[in-house]
This record gives sequence, C-alpha cells and structure tokens, in this order.
Amino acid sequence: MSTTNPEANNAADLKQALLEALIRPDHRISPVWFYDHRGSALFEDITQLPSYYPTRTETSILDDNLEAIAKAIGNNRLVVELGSGSSRKTVPLLKALDQPAGYVPVDISADYLHQAADDLSQQLPGLPVIPLVADFTTPFALPQTLPAHSNRLGFFPGSTIGNLTAPEAQSLLKHCHRVLGDDAAFLIGVDLDKSPEVLIPAYDDPEGVTAEFNRNLLVRINRELGLDIDVQAFAHEARYLTDPARIEMHLVATTDQTINIAGQTHTLAAGESFHTETSHKYTIEGFAQLAQQAGWQLTQHWCDAQNRFAVLLLKAAKNQ
Ligand code: AVI
Repeated sequence: MSTTNPEANNAADLKQALLEALIRPDHRISPVWFYDHRGSALFEDITQLPSYYPTRTETSILDDNLEAIAKAIGNNRLVVELGSGSSRKTVPLLKALDQPAGYVPVDISADYLHQAADDLSQQLPGLPVIPLVADFTTPFALPQTLPAHSNRLGFFPGSTIGNLTAPEAQSLLKHCHRVLGDDAAFLIGVDLDKSPEVLIPAYDDPEGVTAEFNRNLLVRINRELGLDIDVQAFAHEARYLTDPARIEMHLVATTDQTINIAGQTHTLAAGESFHTETSHKYTIEGFAQLAQQAGWQLTQHWCDAQNRFAVLLLKAAKNQ
C-alpha cells in the first residue's frame, strides 16, 4: 500500500469511517486511512527498520532467485503491478524477464505513478510503459492501448494482500483473474506465519516508528476533522492472534476518552481500543488454498532460508 486510497482522501469519508468505528463494538477502522503524506513517509521508514523483516526479506528472495523466477514466468509477458508506488522492486524483474511485452504500473497516486513511469522508461528504454491510475482494491479495467498478443503477469509484492480479509483477498484475486485472462500468471509476495517473538517486534519496534505510524492516524483525524482527540492518551499495541494467524494493531485508550463529533459524544473507556490494521500471516498451503478458490493454481514458490516470507507464482486455472 504505497499511498492513499481516493476515498481515503476525503474528509467526509474519514468522518464517516470514524463515526462507524466509534459505533462498532470492535472500533475497527480501515488501514487505508494511515496513508496521508506523513503516514506514507513513516511506512517507508518502517521498511528500513531492523525488526521489520518483510521488505528486505522479499527483496532478497527476488534478487537471489531472479533467473529461476524469470524462467518460470516465461517470455513475452505484459507485467501489471498492483500498488506499484516507486516500482523499485520491479526494475530487476523487468530486466530479467525474457522480452517483456510492456509494464502497466497501477497506483492510486497519479503524481507518484507518472514520475515512476518516467524514471522506468529511462532505465528500460524500448519497454512500453502504460501507467494506470486506479484503486486496485475495487474492480478496475486495463487500458485499451496494450501491446497485442502478450500473456499477462500480475505482480503484487509487499504482502499487502495480508492487510485484506480472506473474502477481500479472494475477490481481488478473482477480479485479477478476469482482468488478466486465462493465460495469466501472478507473482505475489506473502508474509508467512511465525513466532510472535519475531512478529511482535516487527510491528512494535524499539525505535517507536510503528507506534508513531499508528498514532498518526489520530493526528490526521484531528487535523482533517478539526477534533481534539488526546493522541498521547492512546498506546500503540501489536497483538499476535491465531485462527487466522495475524497481527492486529490497536490504539488503546490509557484513560477514559470522550470524543465529540457531529453533535454526538462517544466514549472509549480505558482499555478499549481502535483496531487500526490486520496483517494476516499465511502458510504456503493456506495461501494456495485461498488462491485456488479464486481461480489460481500455485505452481512454484521461493522462500528465504528462515522461511519468513514467500514469493509465490500462480497460474490462472482455466474455465473459471
Ligand atoms: C503495507 N503492509 C503490508 C504492512 C504490513 O506489514 O502489514 C503495513 C504495516 N503496518 C505496520 N507495519 C507495516
């Protein structure tokens, strides 16, 4: 999730999301609201933290297995990347692929996307780059002007799929099957279930960057909705839960809190929390099953030596 969701740019929608979160018993609010300008910068900082292993582990899996991955993907693929951001992870892949037909970076941030597309065209002259401004979490269509006669490859790194519920992940994968076609392949990064001793520090780092990332949601709410929530009265908490395996991030009220919004007064008693993010952790088999129900067959996968993270290659199952 490199940047913001269009619906997550609008104060009226943020107000609605907060009101719904206050009314829901679990006080859950979508993680799309993390990614204002400051939130996106803090997420970049998180990816550099020693305890946040997913980004660098995925990068090293891709680097170490580039030739094998490119061979398994095959030639003449049109690469469609979901949430492409800076396209940083994609350049080596595009360079390793045999005669890629083109690259379609899909991202919600038009500025970011066009800048990345320009940079990429300079690094890979001759490769057609067709940026698409779209929110990939809702149904999107590919541009009309694609190179003809190419099979498609979906690319979705970063384990962003883990931030979706299982039904949301399945509907995304089903939609990608429809958009990419029956001869498509899909390369996807998935964070694996593991000991809470590794997982908890990844989401509650000693430097406090993830805590700031989490609390920035309240800073944003105060700024954009003109509220005066006491940000420091909320403690960042990362919880490891099973069935399904996941990390949940919470902002826990340390004392009773009153929030006045839209002429209503809501209270969060001490110990109650906003549930701000879920990050699902899969097994290879569990993810393969989820993908199969959405029309994709696992063909190969690559892991790091500690089995922390996996890069999976899926092939579209026919006759969906
Ligand atoms: C974007 N996403 C895959 C990250 C994750 O690990 O779930 C977001 C994140 N939240 C806290 N740290 C990183």
